[in-house]
Amino acid sequence: MKLTKSKKILKDNAKLIPGGVASINRLTDPPLCFVKAKGANLWDADGQKYIDYHAGFAPHLLGFCDKDQEKAVKQCMANQQALFGSGATKDEGELAKLFLKCIPYADKVQFTNTGSEATAQAIRVARAATGREHLIVMQGGYNGQHNAVSANLMTDQKSLGGKQVVGDEYPLVPITAGIPKSEQALMHAIPFNDLKAVEKMVKKYKIAALITEPVLQNIGIVKPQPGYLEGLRKLADKHGFLLIFDEVKTGFRASLGGYQKIAKVAPDLSTFGKAFANGFPIGAMAGKKEYMDLAISNDPKKRVLIAGTYNCHPIPVAAAIACLKKLQSKKLGVFKRLEQLAKRLEKGQKALFKKYKIDVCIERVGSAHCVYFCKKAPCNWWEVLERHDFAFDKAYRLALIEEGIYNFPVPCKQGSISFAHTEKDIDKTLKIMDKVLAKLTR
Ligand SMILES: Cc1ncc(COP(=O)(O)O)c(C=O)c1O
Repeated sequence: MKLTKSKKILKDNAKLIPGGVASINRLTDPPLCFVKAKGANLWDADGQKYIDYHAGFAPHLLGFCDKDQEKAVKQCMANQQALFGSGATKDEGELAKLFLKCIPYADKVQFTNTGSEATAQAIRVARAATGREHLIVMQGGYNGQHNAVSANLMTDQKSLGGKQVVGDEYPLVPITAGIPKSEQALMHAIPFNDLKAVEKMVKKYKIAALITEPVLQNIGIVKPQPGYLEGLRKLADKHGFLLIFDEVKTGFRASLGGYQKIAKVAPDLSTFGKAFANGFPIGAMAGKKEYMDLAISNDPKKRVLIAGTYNCHPIPVAAAIACLKKLQSKKLGVFKRLEQLAKRLEKGQKALFKKYKIDVCIERVGSAHCVYFCKKAPCNWWEVLERHDFAFDKAYRLALIEEGIYNFPVPCKQGSISFAHTEKDIDKTLKIMDKVLAKLTR
C-alpha cells in the first residue's frame, strides 16, 4: 500500500492544524487521506480504491454522494435559498414533518448542526424541566464532545480502578482536559445493562436525566439485555428523571424509527444526527411536547434557549429532506435491502471464522455490525475489555485495509453497510477476508 501522498497531506496540514486534522479522532494508523468517495467506495490520495464499511463514523446510510441529494442541494443553490437567518422557512417545516412521521415517541423536534449540540440541548432541557443537575451516563457510551458528557468511553482497566463495578458508578475519567471539577462532579458513569447502578445513583444524587445510546455503538455493538430499556423507563418514571435516548448512531439506521421503535420503549427526549441526512451536517432533538415546549415557556425561569446561526441551514435541510424521502419510500425498500446485505456479510463471516477456527461473536443491528473476537458477546465495556482480542482485531483491520477493505483501524469500532453496497461488494469483501484470515492464522 502506497502512503506517499497521504503522508504528505498530513504532514503539510500538521504545520498549520494541530495533528493535521479538524477532528482529532480522524487521525489513524495507517495515516490515510481520502480524496474521493462515491457509493460504497473510497479513494485515497495515492489512488488506491477501497470498499468502505466505516461510512465516515456511520452517517452514510445511502452511500457516498447520493445522486438525489446532489440534485436537491444543487437545486437549493439554484433557487437562491440562502441562510436567511430571520423568520421560519417552509423547508424546515417540511423536514420536521418527514422526521416526526418516522419517530414514534416524539411530538415535536428541534434541529441543530451536530449530534453534540443535540445532546447538549437535551441535557439542558432535562435540567430545566426537573430543576436538578446530576446526569447518569454509560461507561462505554459516547454522547458528544461537550463538557457534560465527555468521559468514560474506551477507558482502560487501570483508570477504572482495576476492577469491574457492579451496581455502582465507575471513577469518572474525562476524555478531555479542561472540564471544570464542578461539572465533572455532576456526571456519573455506570455500567450498561445494570439497573441496580441506576437505583444507587438516584439514592445518592439529584438526577436530572439518564442519557444513553440504546445500543452502545461507539464500542462496537453492545446490545441492551431484554428488559433493560423498559427498566430504565420504569426507574425514570418512579424517580422523576428524564430518559434520553441518544440515537445519533441508531436513529434512522437501526430502523426508520430508530432503536426506540424496535425496543418499543418511549424516551422523554431523543437525539439524532448522522444517518438522517446521509452525511450532511445536521442534528436533532425530539421528544414529548411538555419538554420540547420549554423553548417557548411563558415562565422565563423555565424557558430553555435554543439558538444557532446555522440551525437548519438550507443545504443540509435539502439533503436531509431528500434522504428522508428515500428512506421512507416503500418502492425503494431501503431497510429491507440493508438487512439482506448485512445478513449476507454476517453469514459469510460466520462461515469463514468457523473455517479458521476463530472464536467470534458477530453483533449486529440491521446494517450496523461488529465482530468481537471472543466466545460470549459482551454486555458492557468491562466485558469488552476482558473478552475481546484487541491485538488480533487491529491486525485484522490493518490486513484488510492493505487489501482494499476499509473498516476504521481501531479495534471494536462499528462497521456500517450502506444502500449503495451490492452483493458483489459483499462477496468481494468475504473473498478478501478469507485471504487475510489465511495469512493471519498461518
Ligand atoms: C451516539 C453519539 N452521540 C453523539 C455524537 C456526537 O455527534 P457529532 O459528532 O455530530 O457532534 C456521536 C458521534 O459520533 C455519537 O456517536
